[in-house]
Amino acid sequence: PEQFDFVVVANRLPVDRVVNDDGEASWKRSPGGLVTALAPVMTAADGAWVGWHGAPDETVEPFEHDGIQIVPVELSEREVNHYYEGFSNSTLWPLYHDVIVTPEYHRAWWDSYRRVNQRFADATAAVAAEGATVWVQDYQLQLVPKMLRAARPDLRIGFFNHIPFPPVEIFAQLPWRHRVLEGLLGADLIGFQRASDASNFMGAVRRILGFTIRGQQVHVQDEEGKLTHISRAEAHPISIDAQAVAKMANDPKVQARAKEIRRGLGNPDVVLLGVDRLDYTKGIGHRLKAFDELLEDGRLEVGGAALVQVASPSRERVEKYKELRDEIELTVGRINGQHDTMSHTAVRYLHHSYPFEEMVALYLASDVMLITALRDGMNLVAKEFVAAHVDSRGALILSEFAGAADQLKHALLVNPHDIDALKERIIEAVRMPTTEAQRRMRIMRRQISTNDVNRWSRRFLKSLSADPAESAHRT
Ligand code: G6P
Repeated sequence: PEQFDFVVVANRLPVDRVVNDDGEASWKRSPGGLVTALAPVMTAADGAWVGWHGAPDETVEPFEHDGIQIVPVELSEREVNHYYEGFSNSTLWPLYHDVIVTPEYHRAWWDSYRRVNQRFADATAAVAAEGATVWVQDYQLQLVPKMLRAARPDLRIGFFNHIPFPPVEIFAQLPWRHRVLEGLLGADLIGFQRASDASNFMGAVRRILGFTIRGQQVHVQDEEGKLTHISRAEAHPISIDAQAVAKMANDPKVQARAKEIRRGLGNPDVVLLGVDRLDYTKGIGHRLKAFDELLEDGRLEVGGAALVQVASPSRERVEKYKELRDEIELTVGRINGQHDTMSHTAVRYLHHSYPFEEMVALYLASDVMLITALRDGMNLVAKEFVAAHVDSRGALILSEFAGAADQLKHALLVNPHDIDALKERIIEAVRMPTTEAQRRMRIMRRQISTNDVNRWSRRFLKSLSADPAESAHRT
């Protein structure tokens, strides 16, 4: 096959299949930050993207889309079950998010994860040109760096973990912990969202593999004890295309839509907003509890305040996600049954996903954004809310357990487990003088526009291409 100098490897492809009214299928670029960030790099560098196309038991031939070579990887129905819903989303996801729910350990899932990772590595080795740069993405593919290096020692391999990396006390539960760490160490550079994630990882490498860490570097050896390469761990917080969001928010059409959304809610004094994938890491229940109690206490009033909760469908075949949906919908029903009036609703709950333009209008229509994640790698919604507020209005309540808290220090930071603190933060946000809200928002806007997603990918790739041995000599 044709070969490429820059290859991205991710569980998902950057395109989604859309079927038109005549039943004809075509591919459309997926929304989402990673695709936006990498599209220019891919087009400039003659890039290919290796990923799963999303349909079980189906073969899709490679094709080109918008200047990107698409290399689809096939998964059987059983692999979707074991590798994706099982090991990725019922073992690793909860393990890496502070065991908010109990991770499940099944050997059959691990076998599938290993086999699928090998398939991704093989597909990548086949399309990467001599000396190419390969960038592997996220927890679904942690074994790929080592597998790829074994087949192709000529490649420059980067890995980025989009989700947290847990403290070693938690990570140590994983029956295959050695294999996962060794898999990751196949990369020349391993990127994490927060400095604490990188140090958790290095801590695990030291404690579990017994390796010596020098600075942020590990000297990786083969079975005979010969040095094969130096692997580094660094923090590279991901971001958004702030300019594109601001441009959308400045569009009169979007601004008109924001007004219309507010009218649709009965023009309350204050609109509170939650936007999440329906996931147990997001603390949606904590947020609902705080809001409910504020209504109960009479500190907020239906009609005066409305909470809009967009919960986009996610991983719907996974048991814990089904349970969460039942729980949240029961809670919303209870709150609304208790507090709604004939003309106003307390919680406007939407189990949908919307086009990005509609989301930007919704951000603009809202006064207070509630991010109450119990653990979150980054949380890009926080950054989108900030970038959308071209008027510098609005207040952001942000969990200290989201990676975004490292950058957005002028948000109202909160421990979402502390319901009283969360309630106080909401009241503080609702009552905040405009000048103070604007002061905070302006600082956050500057942060996001300087540190956008473009800078993220450039900074990562620059560090990846640097020679670690040289930088070690220099320091
Ligand atoms: C998180 C993960 C991504 C994942 C996304 C959506 O952001 O870090 O790797 O793609 O959730 O989840 P899904 O399982 O639908 O791909």
